[in-house]
Amino acid sequence: MSAHSPRRVALVTGASRGIGAAIARRLARDGFHVVLHYGSGEAEARDVCAAIERDGGSASLVQADLAARDGAARLAAGLAEPHIDVLVNNAGIAPFMSIEEMDVDTYDQLSNINMRAVFFVTQQMLGRLRAGGRIVNLSSVVARTAFAGIPAYSATKGFVDVLTLQLAAELGPRGITVNAVAPGVIETRMTTGLLENGGADAVQSMQALAGIGTPDRVAGVVSFLVGPDGAWTTGQTVDVSGGTKL
Ligand SMILES: NC(=O)c1ccc[n+]([C@@H]2O[C@H](COP(=O)([O-])OP(=O)(O)OC[C@H]3O[C@@H](n4cnc5c(N)ncnc54)[C@H](OP(=O)(O)O)[C@@H]3O)[C@@H](O)[C@H]2O)c1
Repeated sequence: MSAHSPRRVALVTGASRGIGAAIARRLARDGFHVVLHYGSGEAEARDVCAAIERDGGSASLVQADLAARDGAARLAAGLAEPHIDVLVNNAGIAPFMSIEEMDVDTYDQLSNINMRAVFFVTQQMLGRLRAGGRIVNLSSVVARTAFAGIPAYSATKGFVDVLTLQLAAELGPRGITVNAVAPGVIETRMTTGLLENGGADAVQSMQALAGIGTPDRVAGVVSFLVGPDGAWTTGQTVDVSGGTKL
């Protein structure tokens, strides 16, 4: 970057831990000033921010509860940056509940965070995204192939894929790309229970590649999509699942 070009800014939602934190660290290494959004994990978000700065990167924080009706508006109100170059809609929850187990309150919470917030955070950021900007949404392998027992969560990721495709067409004329990444099972707090008691072996038995996916694997693909080599890719959902259920 020349001394006169504006610093490139990336906003990552749900960056207090897990995949969001790994994406934030990676984009900071790629040269972005990273705004780490968090909901309730302030201490964790501060730790990620401090680690980025220790590594010579630049980061700041913004808080907003994305389950709240005005969560996206509050995030925008708290964001000091007038312009951003990258938006990563990563924040999400995954209640592992079958259709019989699901209740209306949990369903509302899930749909508010995983769908409504993705839509309205993107809407709030449209005025700040510079031409040539990039949006990356967190989908999941469960939108492509069936896993019994998590129908509501899986459907929220189907919403993400369709929204990604439609917004790619709508925002293309501004030079903005919109893509999604679809991880398989990634080792984070979201999947701790799933990977215990032989769960890790069961997961690997569904994958073409050995091992359990890490947040850094996902962050590397996001880095590609928001970097120079990703400039001609839009409207896509990129699998990051080690070849799950091929
Ligand atoms: N792990 C996997 O295997 C996997 C696979 C496919 C897709 N994904 C997707 O990847 C994304 C990240 O997952 P992860 O595994 O990293 O999950 P995680 O470790 O549980 O982290 C979730 C993040 O979302 C934020 N969040 C949750 N509820 C929020 C709320 N009401 N308001 C604001 N922020 C909220 C959390 O922030 P606070 O704690 O600060 O509130 C946290 O930073 C999700 O969209 C998930 O669906 C994960």
